[in-house]
Amino acid sequence: MNNMYIVANWKMNGDQIINRDLISTIEKNSVINDSSHMIICPSMPYLQQIDTQKPPYMILGAQNISQYDNGAYTGEVSGKMLADLKTKYVIIGHSERRELYNEDNNVIRGKFSKAIENNIKPILCVGETIEHRNSGETFDYIHSQIDAVLSSNKLENLKELIIAYEPIWAIGTGQTATPESAEEVHSYIRNTLLNTDSNLAENTPILYGGSVNSDNAEKLFKMENINGALIGGASLNGEEFSKIYNIAGELTNE
Ligand code: PGA
Repeated sequence: MNNMYIVANWKMNGDQIINRDLISTIEKNSVINDSSHMIICPSMPYLQQIDTQKPPYMILGAQNISQYDNGAYTGEVSGKMLADLKTKYVIIGHSERRELYNEDNNVIRGKFSKAIENNIKPILCVGETIEHRNSGETFDYIHSQIDAVLSSNKLENLKELIIAYEPIWAIGTGQTATPESAEEVHSYIRNTLLNTDSNLAENTPILYGGSVNSDNAEKLFKMENINGALIGGASLNGEEFSKIYNIAGELTNE
């Protein structure tokens, strides 16, 4: 796969001034590359701001979506609303949502359906805790997270799927998985997709997330089954984020 995907997950950070500066710093420092796709996921209240201020090559993404259509769900944001704000991607099943807001595979299945129904492309996050890893359960755990979505969807709903492998112990900790150990899980994920369909396995980008920065990005991106990154902390620094995007771009040119 030649395409790379570099996704900024700004989490609950930013304000109108910070966001504007961040977008303009990224714009100034990024070398646009058609095969390297940049997706920016700001906090919900700023979707419209980013849509207005970003250059066309940056693609708008959201960090969450409701599993319901509309109605008495205080504080929730529906897929229809996200689509109305021109959101093209949505992060689903981030470990912070799974852990802090008790989103289980059932909830994630619901959110996935709402993304598809509203033509928003899902970025499904999966990843193990340090306890799973230490007890040798990494693959089984990740299999169950992916299967929750694969088994409940027709193939046509999975066409635009992106998977992000984010080992929980690597998120925001500065402790990245080694490129080799990340690749081991990425290739396991690719094989899991292969059991469903060969085109699905071939065409689904599998991103790595967890303390990615401009020092470790190149080695990670050179791995056969790593097709980009989901970036938290380093995406809040425009120059750093652009560096990572540019590294991905250079590799797609090779
Ligand atoms: P991090 O976050 O890059 O700060 O580790 C990644 C994520 O949570 O998506």
